[in-house]
Amino acid sequence: MGKGFYISKPLGFVLFGLGAGAVLTIFALSVVYVQEKRKNEVNARDGTRIVTTAAPHRTSAPSNEAWDKYRLPDALLPEYYNVTLWPRLVPDEEGMYIFTGKSGVVFTCLKETNLILIHSNELNFTLTSEMHHAKLTGLGGTSAPAILETWFQTQTQFMVIQLKRKLQVGKSYWLYTEFHGELSDNLGGFYRSEYTENDVKKVVATTQMQPTAARNVFPCFDEPSMKAVFHLTLLHPPGTVALSNGMELENIVISVLQTRFEPTEKMSTYLLAFVVSEFTNIRSPPEANILIRIWGRREAIESCQGDYALNVTFPILKYLENYYNTTYPLSKSDQIALPDFAAGAMENWGLVTYRELSLFYDPKVSSNEDKEWVVTVITHELAHMWFGNLVTMRWWNDLWLNEGFASYVSYLAADYVEPTWNIKDLMVQQQVQKAFDVDSLVSSHPLSSREDEVITPDQIDQLFDTITYSKVFIMCQKQLEITLLSSVVFNTVYTDLWKKLQEVVDADSSIQLPASINEIMNRWILQMGFPVVTIDTRTGSITQQHFLIHPEAVVDKPSDYNYEWFVPITWLKSGSNMGQHWLLTKTASYEPMKTDTDWLLANLNVTGYYRVNYDPQNWERLLTQLNSDHKVIPVLNRGQIIDDAFNLARADIINITLALRTTKYLYEEKEYIPWESAVRNLEYFFLMFDRTEVYGPLQAQPLFDHFKDITSNWTQKPPRYMDQYNQINAVSMACKTGVKGCSELTRMWYRQWMKNPDTNPYGKCFSKYLEYSIDPNLIRKQDITYAIVYIADNVIGQPLVWDFVRANWEHITKDFDDGSFFSGGLINGITKKFSTEFELQQLQRFKEDIAASSFTFDMQAIERAIEQTKANIKWISENKAQVMNWLIEQSD
Ligand SMILES: *[C@@H]1O[C@H](CO)[C@@H](O)[C@H](O)[C@H]1NC(C)=O
Ligand SMILES: *[C@@H]1O[C@H](CO)[C@@H](O)[C@H](O)[C@H]1NC(C)=O
Ligand SMILES: *[C@@H]1O[C@H](CO)[C@@H](O)[C@H](O)[C@H]1NC(C)=O
Ligand SMILES: *[C@@H]1O[C@H](CO)[C@@H](O)[C@H](O)[C@H]1NC(C)=O
Ligand SMILES: *[C@@H]1O[C@H](CO)[C@@H](O)[C@H](O)[C@H]1NC(C)=O
Ligand SMILES: *[C@@H]1O[C@H](CO)[C@@H](O)[C@H](O)[C@H]1NC(C)=O
Ligand SMILES: *[C@@H]1O[C@H](CO)[C@@H](O)[C@H](O)[C@H]1NC(C)=O
Ligand SMILES: [Zn+2]
Repeated sequence: MGKGFYISKPLGFVLFGLGAGAVLTIFALSVVYVQEKRKNEVNARDGTRIVTTAAPHRTSAPSNEAWDKYRLPDALLPEYYNVTLWPRLVPDEEGMYIFTGKSGVVFTCLKETNLILIHSNELNFTLTSEMHHAKLTGLGGTSAPAILETWFQTQTQFMVIQLKRKLQVGKSYWLYTEFHGELSDNLGGFYRSEYTENDVKKVVATTQMQPTAARNVFPCFDEPSMKAVFHLTLLHPPGTVALSNGMELENIVISVLQTRFEPTEKMSTYLLAFVVSEFTNIRSPPEANILIRIWGRREAIESCQGDYALNVTFPILKYLENYYNTTYPLSKSDQIALPDFAAGAMENWGLVTYRELSLFYDPKVSSNEDKEWVVTVITHELAHMWFGNLVTMRWWNDLWLNEGFASYVSYLAADYVEPTWNIKDLMVQQQVQKAFDVDSLVSSHPLSSREDEVITPDQIDQLFDTITYSKVFIMCQKQLEITLLSSVVFNTVYTDLWKKLQEVVDADSSIQLPASINEIMNRWILQMGFPVVTIDTRTGSITQQHFLIHPEAVVDKPSDYNYEWFVPITWLKSGSNMGQHWLLTKTASYEPMKTDTDWLLANLNVTGYYRVNYDPQNWERLLTQLNSDHKVIPVLNRGQIIDDAFNLARADIINITLALRTTKYLYEEKEYIPWESAVRNLEYFFLMFDRTEVYGPLQAQPLFDHFKDITSNWTQKPPRYMDQYNQINAVSMACKTGVKGCSELTRMWYRQWMKNPDTNPYGKCFSKYLEYSIDPNLIRKQDITYAIVYIADNVIGQPLVWDFVRANWEHITKDFDDGSFFSGGLINGITKKFSTEFELQQLQRFKEDIAASSFTFDMQAIERAIEQTKANIKWISENKAQVMNWLIEQSD
C-alpha cells in the first residue's frame, strides 16, 4: 500500500557506502511505516445466507487438506476475469447497503487436480440451476468435469469446489458465479463512504483491496503473483459516475447506467479499484499525452483544492517515465480523494485512492507540511505504478521491496517538482532518525521475513500493522536502477535484485566491494537492528555493537550473523581530510582514524545506517568545533551528532550531560535540521520536567530574533523552504521557554485566526471538541484518535482527556468497534507524560477495571503504557538531579 496503508510517512532512508571512484553507490533505504491498525474482518459470519438456500460452511479442525492451508495450490493459473458489480447506494428493506455481482474467471490447469480453490469471503452466492454455487465450463472444445460438491472454508477464506473427475493439464476453463455482499462502512473491500453536500447525504461506493480484501468483493485467486487481466463493468444510478482502473469505454442506460471499462493490464487482485460517486473532476489539458483527472467532492474541487495535485501529476509522471525508462503503461491516470479512507493512499493501478488530506491542498488553510505531505504521497503512489504494480513482489514477505523502493523514489520525484525545497535533506532527518527509534528496540524484527512466516490474512496485515516498521533497501546508482527495472522481473523476490546488482558490479572493474552484494545485504535485511560504531581516536580502533536503546534489554532472537554488520564508514578529519573504510568484523584497527589533535567525524551526511560514538577526547574536540565554527561540520551531521548523543545517553553509553552539551552551540545555529533534531530529543525532557526547568540551555532567543529579522518583524514568509519549517521551531521553542515577546506575538496571531472564518473551521473550546470526538457525525472515525491525542498533548488538555477516557471507555469501545488501534494509539498518546507513582496506580486500576469487564480492549497497549510509566519513574530518579544541576549551571 502506499504510504499506503496506513499512512505513514515512509521514514528512513540511508545512503551508504561509496565505492572507490564513487561509481557504485549503495543506498540502504530504511523506511518506517507508521500505521494505524486496520480492523481485520476474519471473523466470518457463521452460515452465509444464500439467496435460495443456506451454503455449507465448514470450520474443520486444521488438517492437511489443501483447503485448510492458507496459500493457494499451484495447480491453477488465472488468465482473465469478467466482473460486473452493482453497488446500491440506498439501503435495502432490511436497512443494509449491499452490492450484487456476477463474475467469471478463465483459468488454465497446470497440474492435474479435481479440486478448485478460489478465495471468497463474506459473500452470499446464488445457486445455479444444477443447485451448485458455481458453474464450470470447458473452453476450446474441452468438456468440464461436473461439480460434485461446493462449500466455503471460513477459516482459510476459500470457496472449495470438488469435481467428479480431474481437470486436464493445459486446458482452460470458465468458472462463473453470482453473489451479493454487504457494502459496509468498515473501510475495506467494497465499502461505502458518506458525506453531506448542501445538507444532502451522499453515498460513495469505493474499494480498498490491499492486502486481502478483493476476495470480499468477488471470488478470485487473491495472491499477488496470481496476475490476470480484469474486464470490469459497473452498474450505477443515473447522476453518478463510475471509475475503475481502466478508462470508461461505454455508458449504456438500461434502467440504471452501465459503464464498461477497458481491460486492465495483467495485474494483481490487490490493485483493483472501483468507485461510484457524484464526484466531479478537473483534468489535464488535451495536449498532455496522458489523461490526468483529479476527482473529489464537488465543493472541494470547485474551491480549487485539487489544483496542486493536478499541477504536479504530469511532471511527476514524466519524471518517473524517464527515471524508469519505461512509458506510463496506461491510457489514463485517475486520482480520487475519499471522505473516508483508512490508509494514506492506495496505489490502485490507474485509479489511485487517497484520504482527502493526502490529495487536497488548500492554500488558505493548509500548511507547508500539508503540501509536502501531498506531494510526497502522490510521488510515492505514482512511483508504485511501475515498481509495485508493473513489477510486483512474489509474496507479501517482500512487501518491504515495494514500499522501500517507492518511498525512496518519492523523494527523488518530489525534489524534481519542488526543487527549491531541499527535500532530499529532509529525508535523512525525517526518516533515518525515526527508523533508528523503532529498530533499536528488542521488539524490532528483520526487514525480510521468510515466505512461510507470513501466511494468514492476519499475518499479512501485521506487515502493515506493526506500529512502525523499518526497512532497508539497496540500490545502485542510476544505471543500475535502470538495469533492475528494465529487466522487469514480473514477480520479484529480493534475491533476484541482488543477482542483477551483482552482475553490474562484476562487469565494472572500477567498483570495489569487500564482499558480494548478497553477503553485504543479508546482514542488513535478515537480522533486525543496526550497530553503534565506536571510534577510539587515541588508538585508531573501531568497534561495532548492536545498538539497543534500553540498556538492560535482552535480545532473545538468534541471528545467523551474530548481530554484526558490514559497515561502510565514511569519515572527515578536521574539515578537510576525508576517507572511507569498510568495517567487516566486530573490532578492527585502522591507522588513519588515529589522532590526538584533530576532531574526527564519521558517517558523513548520515549515508550509513548506524550510530557513532567516540572516545571522550574526540567528543570534546567536536564540541569545541561546534562552539567555535559549526559550519565546518555538514548540516546533516550537526543534526546527527545531537541525535546520536541523546540516544547514546538513553542507552547508558555516554553521560547525559554530554548529550545536553551538544545543544549549547544552537545559540549560533540557524538551520532547521539541527534544531529539529534537538527539539525532537528534548521533547522527552519537556515531558518529564516542568517547561521552565528546561529553559536555561535552550537559548531560543537568538533564533527567535533571527526570524523576526528575516521576516521583517513577522510580516513576511522566510524565503527558504527549510526556514519556513524552522520558523515553527523558533516560535514554539521561544514560547515554550518564555522568550520575551513570543506569547504576545502568538496571541495576536491566534486572535487574527479566530476572526477569519476562512481559516478557522472550528473555533470551539476543548471540552466541546472532546464531546464531538465521540460523535461520528461530527468527526470521522478515521480521525478520532488524532483529535483526542492532540488535545492530550496540551498540558491543560491531558488530565481532561485522561478523566474523559476513564469515564467513557465503555462507550468508546462499544460504539467504535475498531478495537485495538483505537484504544492503543489513544492510551499511548494520553499516558506518555506519566512519571509518578500516583499515575502508575491510576493506570493499574484502569487495567483491572477493563480486565474485569466484558469489553475487548488492547490490553497490550495498557501493559506498554505501564512499562513506559515505570521507565519514566526510573529515568527521573536516575537522571533528574544530574540534569537539573547541569541546567542550573548553564543559567548562572
Ligand atoms: C449473507 O447471509 C448471512 C446469513 O444468512 C446474512 O447474515 C448476511 O446478512 C447476508 N449478507 C448479505 C450481504 O446479504
Ligand atoms: C469476457 O468479456 C470480454 C470483454 O467483454 C469478452 O470478449 C469475453 O468473451 C468474455 N468472456 C467470457 C468467457 O464470457
Ligand atoms: C497551479 O498552476 C497554475 C498555473 O501555473 C498556477 O497559477 C496555480 O497557482 C497553481 N496552483 C497551485 C495550488 O499550486
Ligand atoms: C531505455 O530503453 C530503451 C528501449 O528499451 C533502451 O534502448 C535504452 O538503452 C534504455 N536506456 C537506458 C539508459 O537504459
Ligand atoms: C553532504 O550534503 C550536502 C547537502 O546537504 C552536500 O552539499 C555535500 O556535498 C554532501 N557531502 C558529502 C561528503 O557527500
Ligand atoms: C556525568 O557528568 C557529570 C558532570 O560532568 C558528572 O558529575 C557525573 O558524575 C557524570 N555521570 C556519570 C554517570 O558518569
Ligand atoms: C513589530 O510588530 C509589532 C506588532 O505589529 C509592533 O508592535 C512593533 O512596533 C513592530 N516592531 C518594529 C521594530 O517594527
Ligand atoms: Zn506504498
